[in-house]
Amino acid sequence: MPDANTAAAAPNLHLAPYQARGLKGRILSGVQPTGNLHLGNYLGAIRNFARLQGDYECLYCVVDMHAITLWQDPKELASQTREIAAAFLAAGVDGARNAIFNQSAVPEHAQLAWIFNCVARVGWMNRMTQFKEKAGKDRENASLGLYAYPALMAADILIYKATHVPVGEDQKQHLELTRDIAIKFNNDYHAPGFFPVTEPLIFGAATRVMSLRDGTKKMSKSDPSDFSRINLTDDADAIAQKIRRAKTDPHPMPETAADAEKRPDADNLLGIYAALADRAKDEVIGEFAGKQFSEFKAALTELAVARLGPVGAEMQRLMKDPGHVDSVLRAGVEKARAIAGPILADVYRTVGFLKP
Ligand code: TRP
Repeated sequence: MPDANTAAAAPNLHLAPYQARGLKGRILSGVQPTGNLHLGNYLGAIRNFARLQGDYECLYCVVDMHAITLWQDPKELASQTREIAAAFLAAGVDGARNAIFNQSAVPEHAQLAWIFNCVARVGWMNRMTQFKEKAGKDRENASLGLYAYPALMAADILIYKATHVPVGEDQKQHLELTRDIAIKFNNDYHAPGFFPVTEPLIFGAATRVMSLRDGTKKMSKSDPSDFSRINLTDDADAIAQKIRRAKTDPHPMPETAADAEKRPDADNLLGIYAALADRAKDEVIGEFAGKQFSEFKAALTELAVARLGPVGAEMQRLMKDPGHVDSVLRAGVEKARAIAGPILADVYRTVGFLKP
């Protein structure tokens, strides 16, 4: 996949209007309202959302329609949706400058998704590794929505003609599919350049945060052990306890990057430190080389509490003010629909849907 830095040179990203406004393009990203947010979600996605808002026009979506591809308790879905919106705000996304909204409230996503279901090929969908993982052994029993999930994701992005999407490693394949759908639509309907071929924005250190109990497994909300992850709403005591208990090995801290690479638990903690400190991992390795883990863990705890504490506290505060969160979402829906409506109308015309 081309580097994000080459995006400016890409021919059909519709960049001119953004450049005229001093922006690099339009960003769309989505987070599912399922389960608690953890450090991996924060460092891999949400923290970056705030960092992009000066350079891009940003739309941040809580993808509640994606969530129900696996059954969700209705009461929890609503409160989790607010919680993700609160996390965006707590991480510094400005709801007045950007659109923060929930997917189901902008029906254009679903409308475009149907058209994309008819553009995407079954053969493409069959290659999606996330479906295979989530469907597990009992694939016959998976929902049709879980299978079509990536076509809805393509619609999330292209209903805004987003030029860039910040993604983690695990979503790269879905973004490739989005690009394939855009290209096939443009070809099939003789509409060259209609949809942009969206570029991924991949962030540096610690886009992959691993479990604190097993440095070879991704940090995950579905891990049965809460000690495997740091939740965004964990207080200082919980953070300290989890870092103290984090798995290490009996040797002193790695001396070099090559040494760290061979020791996944140490490597993961060093990566987390570097990301939280906004420093290069090599530099952090140099600082703690040969020291005891206990000393490093004390420094990591202090740093994690300093960086995450305020975010968690602000989330808790916002969760007690659902009226405010809902008003941010309503404003976001309005902004999003103002962009999506005319694009969907264009798509309908292009496809040949009669407007009687
Ligand atoms: N599939 C993404 C995930 O599980 C969530 C998502 C849905 C998304 N629509 C999106 C991410 C559009 C980026 C852009 O993490």
